Amino acid sequence: MRNLYIMFFASICTIISCTPINENIKEEKRDIQEVTSDSHTYSNYSEIRTTHLHLDLDVNFKNNTIYGIARHTMSKSDVEKAIFDVKGLEIQKVTLGSKNEIETDYLIGKTDEIKGAPLTVKIKPGTKQINIYYKTTKETEALDWLTPELTAGKKHPYLYTQGQAILTRSWIPIQDTPMNRITYSADVQVPSELIALMSANNPKEKNTEGKYHFEMKQAIPAYLIALAVGDMEYTSFGESCGVYSEPELVDQCMYEFVDLPKMIDVAEEIYGKYRWDQYDLVILPYSFPFGGMENPRLTFANPTLIAGDRSLISVVAHELAHSWSGNLVTNATWNDFWLNEGFTVYFENRIMEAMYGKEIADINAVIEFQDLITAIADIEAGDHPEDTQLKLQLEDRSPDDGMTDIAYVKGAFFLRTLESVVGREKFDAFLTNYFDNHAFETITTELFVQYLNAELLTPNDIVFDTDEWIYRQGLPDNCVKITSKRLEEMESWANQVNNGEAVFTGKYKDIKRSDRVTQEWQAFVRKLSPDLAPETLIEIDEKLLMSAEANPAIKSDWFILNVKAGNTSVRPEMEAYLIKIGRRWYIESIYQTLIDSKTPGDLDFAKATFEKAKSGYHFVSSSTIEGLF
Ligand code: BES
Ligand code: ZN
Repeated sequence: MRNLYIMFFASICTIISCTPINENIKEEKRDIQEVTSDSHTYSNYSEIRTTHLHLDLDVNFKNNTIYGIARHTMSKSDVEKAIFDVKGLEIQKVTLGSKNEIETDYLIGKTDEIKGAPLTVKIKPGTKQINIYYKTTKETEALDWLTPELTAGKKHPYLYTQGQAILTRSWIPIQDTPMNRITYSADVQVPSELIALMSANNPKEKNTEGKYHFEMKQAIPAYLIALAVGDMEYTSFGESCGVYSEPELVDQCMYEFVDLPKMIDVAEEIYGKYRWDQYDLVILPYSFPFGGMENPRLTFANPTLIAGDRSLISVVAHELAHSWSGNLVTNATWNDFWLNEGFTVYFENRIMEAMYGKEIADINAVIEFQDLITAIADIEAGDHPEDTQLKLQLEDRSPDDGMTDIAYVKGAFFLRTLESVVGREKFDAFLTNYFDNHAFETITTELFVQYLNAELLTPNDIVFDTDEWIYRQGLPDNCVKITSKRLEEMESWANQVNNGEAVFTGKYKDIKRSDRVTQEWQAFVRKLSPDLAPETLIEIDEKLLMSAEANPAIKSDWFILNVKAGNTSVRPEMEAYLIKIGRRWYIESIYQTLIDSKTPGDLDFAKATFEKAKSGYHFVSSSTIEGLF
């Protein structure tokens, strides 16, 4: 009803021009909490909400437990209960007040496998401060506690958190919805030989007591609160950027990420000022389930990015791009996830183009497009063909189900298609205004479309069917086509091999892996036929050292091809890879191919390998792989 009222009001105003369009947009922004709801939270954030969170944390590696107090400063309200999300946490007591804390009643509701449970706290109208005393348990899904053997240095344990999408509630009792933004501070106690880092202002050095204080003064959604604890050093790349890593990795990091300062400059030139002051990376252990995670001021990065040849730097461009799309302007619900990731993949590609040229940017986009086509086919064949729409309907499902190439790549191609229709200059100006206008806010798909129409399409008299992209399945016909000569050349070489020609002849006689970039090898490997004889694959492997030395992106494609082709001789390398690396997208498709394989022994090999590997995976990856079996 409210929605209808707004639409009616907005259209009347446009007709009689009583209010400028911007005013209408402001009006709509105010109402976002009334017209949208996030089905993945139990919290009553629209009645009462946390404005600031202070965390007192004691990180105990003896029993792998965080003992915490979450001190929530609440908005003004006259309700009698505040509801928080919790999952796998032990709540010890809840108090109200800041100087004189008084215990209050609370109730933990029934646990849902995906969402966890509501923690309902009895409050008096006007309550300002709610303090929740808790400890984490073995069921705390966000936390990865690593034994020293799983780190680079092998001397000290390590801990990191992963909050997105709805795992923050498993290490902090919180209103776990991107609909709310909060500032936070923290006092964290860790063993004195380790350093603690957060998505906040960070120490440059360890201190002797292991006590660290953090402040995040800009309001962020709950999924961006993050903590990493380990034996780490800081390497500065200039005034406001650098890398935290275990001491053993410092030299490699200095080589791999040297382009970071320039990348930040380039990003600022495209979409305006970087608003988070500092941009650092922290290199986590191999179990980290993502390539990168855009925790503000401190991107969490997978050590697989240290490829030795700067070939996976686009992941850093991606996480940096989230400083605008995602962190500054945030998807309101997980159904709007494409607003985070589609914009980010688009922006990542623009950064790559500005840094390394259009040819390299296009090469990246073509490989992503191949992934998209595969994803569409997989989703269409599955139980939820509607998941190929940009706007998702994930009620009663895990937000993780939306983490597909639809949000990432279909989202990016939607924006590229818009860019090609309106021209880059206008599109860039529009996006810069979009980020400025919605900075530190949350946005729904519907509000984005309204803004797009009002600020870009209508003023330029452009007719564009946004509904087709957002609310309909598959890929619209007007999608821009990106091609790459360099990839086509690799594909035609693969076709020659498929047709029975010798692999290393003519201009490919002495080719080395370093003669082509990662995506060129991916294009080659993806085009090779699974009908090739294992001997041919072995010949390629001996010459190009795919199984032994290629970077993880190439290896994943290579192992998949070999499993499909029934070449079991790569099993030892594949096993080592699956045990070492926990990055979900890399390992998931290998496990899936092994499970689907008709080669005798592949399924048993997959099961046995998973048994050996799973204690080294984060919950995000181990639960996904378990789901495949
Ligand atoms: N924010 C995502 C990771 C994520 C998404 C975690 C959803 C949990 C739920 C991050 O920015 C990301 O997209 N990482 C990609 C990088 C790639 C697309 C360059 C990854 O990990 O592969
Ligand atoms: Zn991302």
